[in-house]
Amino acid sequence: MVNFLLFLVIFGALGHTNASENQTFWAGTLGRINNWVDVGAQYVFSGYGSRSVDVIETNFSRIAVPNLCETDVKQYSGYFHISESKHMFFRFFESRSSPSTDPLILWLQGGPGDSGAVGLLLENGPCSIANGGKSTTRNPHSWTNHANVLFVDQPIGVGFSYSSSELEELVHSNAQAATDVYAFLQLFFAQFPEYATLPLHVAGESYGGIYAPHVASAIWKGNRLNATTKIRLESVMLGNGITDPLIQIPSIVDYVCTGPFALYPDPEAAECKALRSSASTCKMLIRACNWYPNESVCGRASRYCRSRLFEPVMKSDLNWYDLRTPCNATALPRPEWCYEKTSWVENYMNDPKVKRALDVDADRKYQNFNMEMNRDFNARGEGVLNAARLLPELVDGGVRLLVYAGNADMMANFIGNQRWVENLDTKFKAEFAISEARDWMLSGTNTVAGRVRSAGGGNLTFVEVYEAGSGTCLHTINLLQFWI
Ligand SMILES: *[C@@H]1O[C@H](CO)[C@@H](O)[C@H](O)[C@H]1NC(C)=O
Ligand SMILES: *[C@@H]1O[C@H](CO)[C@@H](O)[C@H](O)[C@H]1NC(C)=O
Ligand SMILES: *[C@@H]1O[C@H](CO)[C@@H](O)[C@H](O)[C@H]1NC(C)=O
Ligand SMILES: *[C@@H]1O[C@H](CO)[C@@H](O)[C@H](O)[C@H]1NC(C)=O
Ligand SMILES: *[C@@H]1O[C@H](CO)[C@@H](O)[C@H](O)[C@H]1NC(C)=O
Ligand SMILES: *[C@@H]1O[C@H](CO)[C@@H](O)[C@H](O)[C@H]1NC(C)=O
Repeated sequence: MVNFLLFLVIFGALGHTNASENQTFWAGTLGRINNWVDVGAQYVFSGYGSRSVDVIETNFSRIAVPNLCETDVKQYSGYFHISESKHMFFRFFESRSSPSTDPLILWLQGGPGDSGAVGLLLENGPCSIANGGKSTTRNPHSWTNHANVLFVDQPIGVGFSYSSSELEELVHSNAQAATDVYAFLQLFFAQFPEYATLPLHVAGESYGGIYAPHVASAIWKGNRLNATTKIRLESVMLGNGITDPLIQIPSIVDYVCTGPFALYPDPEAAECKALRSSASTCKMLIRACNWYPNESVCGRASRYCRSRLFEPVMKSDLNWYDLRTPCNATALPRPEWCYEKTSWVENYMNDPKVKRALDVDADRKYQNFNMEMNRDFNARGEGVLNAARLLPELVDGGVRLLVYAGNADMMANFIGNQRWVENLDTKFKAEFAISEARDWMLSGTNTVAGRVRSAGGGNLTFVEVYEAGSGTCLHTINLLQFWI
C-alpha cells in the first residue's frame, strides 16, 4: 500500500520522461496495478455515509445502479478507487441493441479538464440535457444504439473524480492520466468480467486526441506484460482530435485563410500573412519541445502558439467549434464554452436529486471544466507533445484507427487532421498517400455526408464530415454503424 502511494507520487514528478515508452517503468506500473486489484481486496474504503440508491460495494469500488433518464438498459455509476486516495468517477450504459455482443467504447472528453458528462449529455450519450438542466430527453442518435459505453471523469480532479490526498491533488501529464485510466479499466473488468470479452474501442474528442493514443498505448503495453486482464483493444477513434500538434496547430492558418468557412477569405490578407509568420515560429518551438521535452521549452511553445495563432482567431464572434454558428460569450457563464447548454449540464449534475441517484456526495461540486488542470497542462506544454508517435506500433499490430472531423470546427480542424494521418508512419502510409477520397453516404440515403479516405482494408481511415462542427452535430451522424 505504502509502495503504491509512493509510486504515484514519484510518477507525478516524472512528467516529461515519456513514461509510457519505458519498459522497465511499465513492468513496474503494471505490477502495481495488478497488485492493487489484490491489495484493494483488503482495503475498505470508508468515504461514504449511507445512501438511498442500490449500491454494489467492493474493496476497490462503490457503484450505484441509477434509475436515471435511460431506465430500460442496465446502467452503473460511481467510483473505482484506483489507489487508496484516487477515486475515478464513471457512468456506464449498456447497448440498446445487444449488450452481450456489441462492443465496448471508452469515451474520453477533451480539455484537458472536461468532464465525460459533457459528451454524455450534449453529444453521444443516451440522454440529452433539456429544460435548463431540469431534465433529460432520450437521444435517438446515442452511441449506445450499437455499443456499451463508458464515460469517465479523467484525469483525477475532473468532474466528480477526486483525490482524497493533498499530495496527489491533480494529474500533471498525459502519460500519468493514461496510467490512471488503465488502472480504472483493470478494476472495471475485474468487477464486470462480462464486458472484458468484448472488443474495446478507445474514443476521444479534442484533447481526447492526445489522451486516447496514450490510453491505447498503455493497454497495448499492459497486454504484452502480465496484465490481470488482457484487454481486447480493437480500435482508436478520434473525433476532431488534437494528436500531432506540430502538424495540427500551424494548420489553423490554412483553415482560417483557405478552409470552407474561412474567416479571412483572401489568403493574402494582412491577417493571413501575420498568422503564417507566427506559424513558422510556433513550428520551430514545438519541434524543439519534441526534441527536448522539458517543461520550460514545451510551456513556451504552448504559450507562443496559443497567443499568436489561437487568440487572434478566437476573437471572432463565431463559435470556434462550429464556425457556422455565432458564439455569444457574454451570454455564457464562462467564455471558453460557446454552447449555452453546457450551463444546463452543470445545473443538472449539481441537482441534489441527480447526485443522490448517482451516489455522489451531496457536497461534491460538479464543474464541466477544471480550469486549474487546463492551465497546469498548458504551462507544462503537455498539449504540444506528439501523441501520434504512439500509434504506428498499434496500427501495424492490427489496432484499427479512425480519425473523423466535422469540417466546421476551427480548433482541431479537418485539414490538420488529414495531414497528420497522411504523415503517420504505419505500414499503410504509402497506400494512404495515394488513396482517393470517396463520397461518404449516410446509410440508407442518397445524402453525401462527407468524404472518406482509407488504407489497409479500412484499418486506417480518415473521414471529413461536411457541415458539422465538433460536438453535438457531429455525433448525430451514423458513424458507429460504419466503424464498429
Ligand atoms: C525507466 O523507469 C525506471 C523505473 O521507474 C527508471 O529507473 C529509469 O530511469 C527509467 N528510464 C528512463 C529512460 O526514463
Ligand atoms: C474486502 O476484502 C476483505 C479481505 O479480502 C474481504 O473479507 C471483504 O469481504 C472485502 N469486502 C468487500 C466489500 O468486498
Ligand atoms: C510474466 O509472467 C511469467 C509467468 O509467470 C513470467 O515468467 C514473466 O517473467 C513475467 N513477465 C513480466 C514482464 O513480468
Ligand atoms: C529545460 O531546458 C532549458 C533550456 O535548454 C534549461 O535551461 C533547463 O534547465 C531545462 N530544465 C530542466 C528541468 O531540465
Ligand atoms: C449576448 O448576450 C448578452 C447577454 O445575454 C446580450 O446582452 C447581448 O445582446 C448578446 N449579444 C449578441 C450579439 O447577441
Ligand atoms: C486490419 O485489422 C484487423 C483487425 O485487427 C486485422 O485482422 C487485419 O489483419 C488488418 N488488416 C490489415 C490489412 O492489416
